[in-house]
Amino acid sequence: MILTENKIFILETNRTAYAFKTTEGGVLQHLYYGRRLPRPEDYNSAPVILNQPGNALLDGDGVCREDLLQEAGTVGWGDLRAPLVDVEFPDGGRSCDFRFSHFERPENAGPAGMPAAVGGETLKVVLKERTHDLYLELYYTVFEDTDVIGRWSRLINDGAETVWVNRLMSQQLDLPAGAYDLVSFRGAWAREMDTVRQTLAGELRWSSEAGVSSNRCNPFAMVCRRGAGEEHGDVWAMNLLYSGSHLGTAQVNAYGSVRLTQGMGPLRWQLLPGDSVDAPQAVTTYSAEGFGGVSRQMHPFVRRHIVRGYWQDRERPVLVNSWEAFYFKVSHRKVISLARSAKSIGAELLVLDDGWFKGRVDDSHALGDWTADPKKLPDGLAALAREVNEQGVKFGLWVEPEMISEQSELFAAHPDWVLGHRDQAIGRNQYVLDLTRPEVCRYIVDSMKAVLGGAAISYIKWDMNRILSDAFSPALPPERQGEAAHRYVLGLYAILDELTKAFPEVLFESCASGGNRFDLGMLCYMPQVWASDNTDAACRSHIQWGYSYGYPQSVLGCHVSDSPNHQTLRRTPLRSRFNVAALGLLGYELDPSELSSDKTEEVREQIEFYKAHRRLLQFGQLHRCPTGEGECFTMVTAPDGAEAAGTHFVWENQPNPKSVPLYCRGLDGEKTYHLTSRSTPPRVTDFGSLANYMSPIRIRSGSLVEKAADKFVKMPQDELELTASGAAFCHRGFYPVQPFGGTGFNGPTRLMRDFDSRLYLWAEETE
Ligand code: DGJ
Repeated sequence: MILTENKIFILETNRTAYAFKTTEGGVLQHLYYGRRLPRPEDYNSAPVILNQPGNALLDGDGVCREDLLQEAGTVGWGDLRAPLVDVEFPDGGRSCDFRFSHFERPENAGPAGMPAAVGGETLKVVLKERTHDLYLELYYTVFEDTDVIGRWSRLINDGAETVWVNRLMSQQLDLPAGAYDLVSFRGAWAREMDTVRQTLAGELRWSSEAGVSSNRCNPFAMVCRRGAGEEHGDVWAMNLLYSGSHLGTAQVNAYGSVRLTQGMGPLRWQLLPGDSVDAPQAVTTYSAEGFGGVSRQMHPFVRRHIVRGYWQDRERPVLVNSWEAFYFKVSHRKVISLARSAKSIGAELLVLDDGWFKGRVDDSHALGDWTADPKKLPDGLAALAREVNEQGVKFGLWVEPEMISEQSELFAAHPDWVLGHRDQAIGRNQYVLDLTRPEVCRYIVDSMKAVLGGAAISYIKWDMNRILSDAFSPALPPERQGEAAHRYVLGLYAILDELTKAFPEVLFESCASGGNRFDLGMLCYMPQVWASDNTDAACRSHIQWGYSYGYPQSVLGCHVSDSPNHQTLRRTPLRSRFNVAALGLLGYELDPSELSSDKTEEVREQIEFYKAHRRLLQFGQLHRCPTGEGECFTMVTAPDGAEAAGTHFVWENQPNPKSVPLYCRGLDGEKTYHLTSRSTPPRVTDFGSLANYMSPIRIRSGSLVEKAADKFVKMPQDELELTASGAAFCHRGFYPVQPFGGTGFNGPTRLMRDFDSRLYLWAEETE
């Protein structure tokens, strides 16, 4: 609900409220963002700072803006913090003073050419610069159901002269003086989403200048009170619906108050008379229940207001992807055989990854030439898709449309379509296409329409394998080069808008070498993202944990791959690879026909299990549960509380381990649940020479005898069954079966190797 009495604006969600007002002189003063309070008057308690401490400055109304909590900070007038807006007027001056003009309640409002969250109730507040005809519009959208507030800004030049925009942020949040920490998510290729908590002092940033939202630093971040934790304390979270460079700043001023700003990365925009420029939409949420509370608000927000269209609420297919099975060495015969084995294990979709198009022998060729390679696929894509479908699975395809290889027909025809100067740092032997040019965007749309319209394609993996090194467009005049990086993103969004509308039932998965463009902007067009090129279960449990703070598992592509793993050469148990991937969108990144018969059977059972619990695993609410060091425990719970699942992952097995209970989260305290565990039987080969302790005959490691024993000796597997109330599972916890830790093995023992795990299921008992 939005209340607008007496120039006080109160934006209320189910549990939170955001309040601001105009001062006597018309400056927008921020009042409050936190728990919802009982009476509207409760919000209007903040003082306007009229005194002038020390050598601080006063504006014309005697207000000291240096420490005034505000909605739209600017340069000059005594406010020394990072501004929401920074413009340069014709005389070169930057001092700027926006005052309240009026407000409106628009029906549908979103930034031009960029995605916006669906639904909500919007307030538009219009400010005018005191001495110039420059207007700043602030848009606030209230998503009551998920306790999220959307914000973006628009600058309009109504004057007769050009104004330069050096900064136009999407949101600003001023918090009163206190002790806070910043939690941001940083990393690199294959090491995405490391959780970094820093004491907030001076100025900290979370940002990317890579031209993409990037794996170096995700746009999602949280600021919390110093003592806050997973389930307690005040936390404010921010994110951005934008896929290019971004900037988040967190600043403590001289009086201890904090200014947070977030928006797109470096910009210099020429704002001609009559023109306007928009910042992308940002979102923020507040929770008094720690980081877990933020996730329980952000996840449904992403599911309901960001992801949209045909796939929004639909269960996603289990897929087999050809990349780690074949890399570039694909052929018609191999794809059909992969489709056949995909079907035999129960998968529903076969994805032909990189390597399928004309001349694509390695990563230095053919990007831009989107027709099937006649040598590898002599019958073409349509026939291939048809034959794949005949095997009983759908057909999906990899593309990387924003790129161009120097060795391609497209490059020969249009060398000028490259973004940046020819002499630039290149990545993966490829250049980026100049999406600031409408004719380039048209080429991409037309070539993708030809691919998608020419064959029965149900799924597209849209890749983007390098960052921008030289955001310069030969097609733009010098005075507009500061717009190139943003115009690239606008070009991309126009392409995605047209294609996803033309093929609404195709499932698009966004990918940028894994998580290099994992953001809410891409998720508005593509309902899921390939979260990381790293498929190692040990790394993935860490990476997926990081994503889980701001993103639900229904947007995370998670695949089981071969062992040793291709990124780390680590060997992990097959059950663990599944248990980690199962709390996401399951796929297999291997050739099932290469698996031994018992592993094939294990995979078949995994997929059967996943399908049986798919709604819970993909769309249940995810919880990060407490554990000791070196392990993690993640649960998903059904919205009606009737069932839950959870993966307990242990990095390193210990001898003589401590008996530590696992504590659940998200179960209904009043309900009674029956807990079962999912495991696989231990193998004779797991024991090495220790097998001789039990065996009547000598078993040598690697011998035929060991192989025979491994095949015929069935060992008992650990099983756990328990019935208790949800409250007991959450507060008293439960003890997993005693693990093997150096002595004694019998039926109930849980054989845990390094990087091992167990998956647990809870079902409500109604009797
Ligand atoms: C990077 C992706 O993240 C991989 O999964 C794969 O699609 C390769 N690109 C193909 O070039």
